[in-house]
Amino acid sequence: MANRRPVIAGNWKMFKTVNEAEDYAVRFLEEVKEVTELDIILCAPFTALHPLKNELEESVVHLGAQNMSWADQGAYTGEISAQMLLDVACTYVILGHSERRELFGETDQEIAKKVQKALAAGLKPILCVGENLNVREEGKAAERVKGQVSLALSSLSAEELNPIVIAYEPIWAIGTGKTASSKDAQEMCAAIRTTLTGLMGPAAENVPILYGGSVKAENIAELLNEPDVDGALVGGASLDPLSFAKLVQNAAAVVARVEGI
Ligand code: 13P
Repeated sequence: MANRRPVIAGNWKMFKTVNEAEDYAVRFLEEVKEVTELDIILCAPFTALHPLKNELEESVVHLGAQNMSWADQGAYTGEISAQMLLDVACTYVILGHSERRELFGETDQEIAKKVQKALAAGLKPILCVGENLNVREEGKAAERVKGQVSLALSSLSAEELNPIVIAYEPIWAIGTGKTASSKDAQEMCAAIRTTLTGLMGPAAENVPILYGGSVKAENIAELLNEPDVDGALVGGASLDPLSFAKLVQNAAAVVARVEGI
């Protein structure tokens, strides 16, 4: 994780009602309220964002959404705009998650438009990229992921790109219990950083690159020890407040050790 501030983000996907989200927030905050070594983000379903805004106000936990529209407003039934997310105190938004690409047909072009809109509105996009098993077995994983990064970001200037966060999530590792080895994660995150350097120069050194795919409290430390892995985007293991808090605490312990606190 070099000198970058680590990020641990939970992606609840399509889980949790309003009551469940509120209950989670109270229990999670109790456990992590003293954690200052890293940025903690909860990416919740749209319906839970407003209640979470109230629960998380002035806490160490940041709020994120899991998708948004490339349009500002208008006749776009079923869509949610960047302004609507800002209105409920979101600072982050996941864009281009593999589930959106694979199950809902999102293209690289649409994702690029969403990233541009989020940045213009002042939201920090967590851009997800990752290869499927076929692509990995063909030895084309780095090529695929670098292509996804370029297609999403190449129309933006280095300055515009500053707030970006990238999540490398190999599709074969999502929800499967199969984590990429820390060496594989490092190799892919380093490849992504090289692409970012081509797009934004030395500022790429400041971009947090997260790994996602079966991250748990037990394997976060090993991943964070890699120089280009700056944190994690966590699905299943973020659903229980106490186990996600444990993951956050384990990550904070690595940061504290590295910084000699
Ligand atoms: P899991 O942690 O459940 O593998 O999900 C990863 C993911 O898709 C996070 O966005």
